[in-house]
Amino acid sequence: MTILITGGLGYIGSHISKIANEKVVIIDNQSNSQLNYKKKLPNAEVFIEDLKYKNVCKIFKNYNIDTVIHLAGLKSVNDSIISPLEYYSNNIISSVELLQAMIKFKINKLIFSSSATVYGNKNKSPLKEDFLTQSINPYGHTKIIIEDIIQNCCASYSNFSAISLRYFNPIGAHSDGSLGDRPKGRPLNLMPLIVDSVFGKKLTVFGNDYPTADGTCLRDYIHVMDLAEAHLICLKNLNNIKYDTFNVGLGMGISVLELIKTFENANKVKVNFEFGERRLGDAAISYADTSKFKNRFNWSPKYNYKSMCRDSWSQNKNN
Ligand SMILES: NC(=O)c1ccc[n+]([C@@H]2O[C@H](COP(=O)([O-])OP(=O)(O)OC[C@H]3O[C@@H](n4cnc5c(N)ncnc54)[C@H](O)[C@@H]3O)[C@@H](O)[C@H]2O)c1
Repeated sequence: MTILITGGLGYIGSHISKIANEKVVIIDNQSNSQLNYKKKLPNAEVFIEDLKYKNVCKIFKNYNIDTVIHLAGLKSVNDSIISPLEYYSNNIISSVELLQAMIKFKINKLIFSSSATVYGNKNKSPLKEDFLTQSINPYGHTKIIIEDIIQNCCASYSNFSAISLRYFNPIGAHSDGSLGDRPKGRPLNLMPLIVDSVFGKKLTVFGNDYPTADGTCLRDYIHVMDLAEAHLICLKNLNNIKYDTFNVGLGMGISVLELIKTFENANKVKVNFEFGERRLGDAAISYADTSKFKNRFNWSPKYNYKSMCRDSWSQNKNN
């Protein structure tokens, strides 16, 4: 079996590529990756190109692709508010062009990277897959729209089947230290900011007066190795699914302060942080109900918060 991974040089895609048992072909324009893929992913066939119809068709013509794992996309909530058209254009148009190429070449299996952001900020945790989705920023809106487009394809094309995985905050890194969350430019997710703060860049914790035990927001995280494995499980099971969505998280929340403390204890370092104002649109509490994935595939994440913090640090401390 050969799989195409769009965005396969990014944080999550590189981890999937590394542990996949299948032959891997990657298309990635490196707009947010600085991975030395020749060294780090020597077995993958890599195309440094935009996710466009003609580029994908060229790959489908030359490789016997069975399934596509679609991760390519821009992922910053803040940037999507500043430049919504860039997000709608990059994320949605490339997804449509990918799907058009898949239909043309009769490649009928897709796994899509969706996000917990599709639940918006009004649903009460634990968040379940059948809750109503709500768009609260352009990034999240692109995920809702792409999920809908994929679902439409599954309804209209008899052999087409897909899974949308709704990720809850992947953190951590492969234990050999070769891969990690290495975006171009300034990182925006909490864990890379915690790591940076150890080196002196002060972290701002947004809000300490939320209705949680310590006043900081509660979120759900998953080790990127568990997340990568969840994709491989979906690959094995796509034959029995027409279309479905699954949460992938640990299924228990941890507050920002608790995560900082866990990081400090796991790595014996000091996180340099201060409190700032609440951010507009942040829900106080957001964590997944993960029972659907667990019951369907008999699988649960293996890594706990301590190991997520340990691996995030060990990957970064020498870089
Ligand atoms: N990391 C998270 O916290 C998180 C959470 C939920 C969902 N997701 C989704 O998972 C996917 C992967 O996330 P990630 O953290 O690995 O991000 P990432 O930015 O590290 O990886 C995405 C990759 O896609 C590439 N890319 C972007 N637009 C492209 C285009 N038009 N053509 C070709 N390549 C393109 C980038 O160069 C990058 O290497 C994204 O779709 C993201 O929205 C991520």
